[in-house]
This record gives sequence, structure tokens and C-alpha cells, in this order.
Amino acid sequence: MTQILETVEKSRLTVNPLLKNKSELGQFFTPLSISKFMASLFSKDKLNNPKVLDAGAGIGSLTSAFLARLISENIGKADLHLLEIDEMLEPYLSETLALFKDDIEINSQIIIDDFIEWAAFSLLDKESLLAKDKQRFTHAILNPPYKKIKSNSNHRKLLRKAGIETVNLYSAFVALTVDLMSDGGEIVFIIPRSFCNGPYFRNFRQHLLNKTSIKHMHLFESRDKAFKDDEVLQENVIMKLEKGTAQEDVTISISTDDSFSDYKEYRYPFEKIVQPNDIEKFIHINTTNEETLIEKHPNVCYSLEELNIEVSTGPVVDFRVKENLREMPEEGTVPLFYPNHFVGASVEYPKVMKKPNAIIRNEKVEKWLYPNGHYVVVKRFSSKEEKRRIVAGVLTPESVHDPVVGFENGLNVLHYNKSGISKEVAYGLYAYLNSTPVDKYFRIFNGHTQVNATDLRTMKFPSRDILISLGKWVIKNKENVGQVEIDSKLEELLLSDRRNA
Ligand SMILES: C[S@@+](CC[C@H](N)C(=O)[O-])C[C@H]1O[C@@H](n2cnc3c(N)ncnc32)[C@H](O)[C@@H]1O
Repeated sequence: MTQILETVEKSRLTVNPLLKNKSELGQFFTPLSISKFMASLFSKDKLNNPKVLDAGAGIGSLTSAFLARLISENIGKADLHLLEIDEMLEPYLSETLALFKDDIEINSQIIIDDFIEWAAFSLLDKESLLAKDKQRFTHAILNPPYKKIKSNSNHRKLLRKAGIETVNLYSAFVALTVDLMSDGGEIVFIIPRSFCNGPYFRNFRQHLLNKTSIKHMHLFESRDKAFKDDEVLQENVIMKLEKGTAQEDVTISISTDDSFSDYKEYRYPFEKIVQPNDIEKFIHINTTNEETLIEKHPNVCYSLEELNIEVSTGPVVDFRVKENLREMPEEGTVPLFYPNHFVGASVEYPKVMKKPNAIIRNEKVEKWLYPNGHYVVVKRFSSKEEKRRIVAGVLTPESVHDPVVGFENGLNVLHYNKSGISKEVAYGLYAYLNSTPVDKYFRIFNGHTQVNATDLRTMKFPSRDILISLGKWVIKNKENVGQVEIDSKLEELLLSDRRNA
């Protein structure tokens, strides 16, 4: 069997340079070690008489790993549906299946078609065997293409008809696959981790959680190692779902890369993965088997809303108001703040940089300006080199002498009713958001470097009193407040709060 799989792997590497629409069609084929791992996740006791779907089959790497698994478990027969849009891959798929002909009886259909169309039509056509529930799949294994679905595209309309609202091909493939499964059917797939949080994938998360139970999630510690030869820099997650069964504890596993040499796994109660009262349904993946200080501490339980604080994305989109922008402050302008203006707890303004420092105050921009005051800002995009994902700063009213200020779109702004917040709370939030425990907690549900307003709205914060104590401490010791100091002060305050509770 090893020899057959190695032949498929060689074919994957040979076909790679021949692909003409590689990025257009998301043709990043799965390496053998990952395919084998994915196939190993299917439950042994359900492997008999499988009816298998491989959506976006490529050259059949995943199907062949699945077939190898069946053969190793002495299963003699399999029914396969392989869907692939690129007709150039058809002969490769046939060759892949032919390699198994002596070892297992295969009843296969290679369907060269658009999976979204094929699946949506099959589900919507009341006469089709699939719609009649007669031909649903018991197993699905997929590495779908990643590509945004435009809002007015045919794909989007078809998906909507099939009751699926989603923004990327990968989530569309998985959502449709869920609908094509029979009850108890198992789905294993690899997709970017970005669906675990953020508003755009909320419907998709809801779709999965309503119709399936999560059985297993695997993460690669190093974001650049899963697909070494294709330079895919996404943080990916491998998941196993089961259709229509009750949710139990979930296995979470991790390995540095696709050699799986340092594989570790833990069991987690589902409430730790999707918090019971979270309407956003963020999926938390903690790979350390240790609760972060934030999760452990019962009094870190307030949302920003409960603290009477709102969060908005900086309303000034600079390229839409180009004519209003000025390199340096001048008569008639007010400050326009960018992430670069915030360095630690200080504001460097004005600053010599590529971006402008000021914006002409007129009717067009007035609605986006905030009265000068204390605000906490959180950078929306942190670079990979940055140690923390959440980087917060504080605007103080004395930083500038203007009555109103603008915040550019690269910032999230924490405010109260579009006005400033109290100085102590602002510095307290600054320290809390920049702490190591918050960074660790954030990484559990956010696999990318972007921090959205919804992420901040969903996060938990300590009480107002703790934030005020933390803020007072920052104000008093400002010059000497580094990472180590912030972390130990936060821990000290949380522990004493627990003792007093
Ligand atoms: C990420 S690759 C994975 C291929 C294969 N499953 C593997 O794991 O090696 C995604 C595959 O989906 C195919 N694809 C892209 N858009 C598709 C569509 N709308 N319908 C069917 N297949 C599609 C691509 O041609 C590509 O082969």
C-alpha cells in the first residue's frame, strides 16, 4: 500500500508545475502525510460499505489515503464520488483509482463539474436521489479550494437557494457537504482557521453546530509548515464532524508540522470550545491543555457592553477622502490617527511617516470625528513579527490641542457613545489588552493576525474596579511599565480579587 500512496504522491508533485489555473482554482494538493492523518480520523467501526464524497478531488490524494485506510481495515468494497472542476485532472484521477484495482472493489464516479452547482442542484431537485435521502454519503474527505465568493455571483445565489449564506468557497464546500451526508456520516476536512471567529463566518459556524457534532480538531503549530512545498501561509485546521449526533467532549490535537512527530492530543468539554452564551459562536481551540489566566479567573466575565464601553472600527477610510488628507497639521485640519501614532502608552504626534497626520475638518468628514478625550485603540492588523496579536494604545486629550480627532480604519476604537472614557479605565484597558494572558486567550479563537471589533466585543474583561486599579497603577508608573510588569500586576490584581470574592 505504501508503494501505491508514494506513486500518488509523485504524481502530485509532477502535476503541480503543469497546473494552469493553480491560484484561480485553489489547486494546492494535500501532501501524503496530511492525507494519511486525515484518513486515520474516520471511526473504525463505521467503515463498512462506505459511500464516499471527495469534493474538489484534485488528483485524488485524499481518496487514495481513504482507500488505503479501508484496505488496512480489511474492507473489500467502496462507493466513490469524486467531484473536480478541472478537466485536465480527470486522467490523473482515473490513474489514481486504477492503482487500487487489485486491492479493493471500487464503484466510482468521477464527475467533472462545479461542486457548488452539482451539490446545490442535487439538494434542490426534489426528484434527485440525493434530495430523496436515498443516496447520501456516509463519509466525506475534502481539502476544498479557498476563494472569496462575490456577493452577486452565481455561486452566491445558488448557495442562498440551498439555504447557505457564506463568503468563501471553502466554507461553501463544507456546508454543502454537511447537507449531503446521511445521519451519523463522518466528514474530515482541512480548511483555513479563519472561520473560527469573525462575523463573516457566523452563519457557517451556526450551520456546522446545528447539523453536526465536532469530534476532533487538529492544528499545526507552525503556520508555514503544513504545506511546505506550496508555500501556503494560512493557519489551517483539520476537523472531523459527525452529522446529526449529540455533541460530546472534543479531541484537540497539535503537531509542529506535517511529520506529526510531536503529535499531542487532549480532550476538552465542548463548553470550552463554544461558550454556551456566545451568540457569535466563536470556536476556541486551546492546544496547550492548560487554561489561560483569563479562562481560569471566574471574575474575568464582563463584556465591553457590560462595562458600558463600545467598540467601533476607525470610521475614516483614508482613500475615500484623499482630498481631505494633509501630511502635517495646518490651518483648518484636525489630527487623523493611524496605528503608527501609538507607541506603547505614548502618542507620537505629529510624526514623519508615509501616512498623513491630519484631515481637513469639513461637512464631509464631521460625522466621523470624535471629541478629543481618552480613548483606547487596538491595531486591526498586526504584522507577523509582532510578538502579540493584540496591540493597544491610549489617546489622551493632552496629546493634541484640537477639539475633535479622527481615527483611521486600521484602528479599532474603544469609546463611550462616541466620546472618550475615563482616564483610569482607559489605561486599565490598555494594560489588560496588552497583557500576555489576553494574547494567549486571543490566539485560542483567532488564528490570523487581524483583530476585528467583533473579536473585542466577544472577549471577556475584568470588573471596572480591577480595570481602574490597573489604570491607576499604569498612570503612576508609566515610564516603567513593560510586558513583565503588566503581566505580574494583572495577575496580582486578579488573585487578590479572587481572595476578596
Ligand atoms: C485545495 S485543492 C485540493 C485537491 C485535493 N482534494 C487534494 O487534497 O489534494 C482544491 C481542488 O478543488 C478544485 N476546485 C476548485 N473549484 C472547484 C469547484 N467549483 N468545483 C469543483 N472543484 C473545484 C481545484 O481544481 C482543486 O483540484
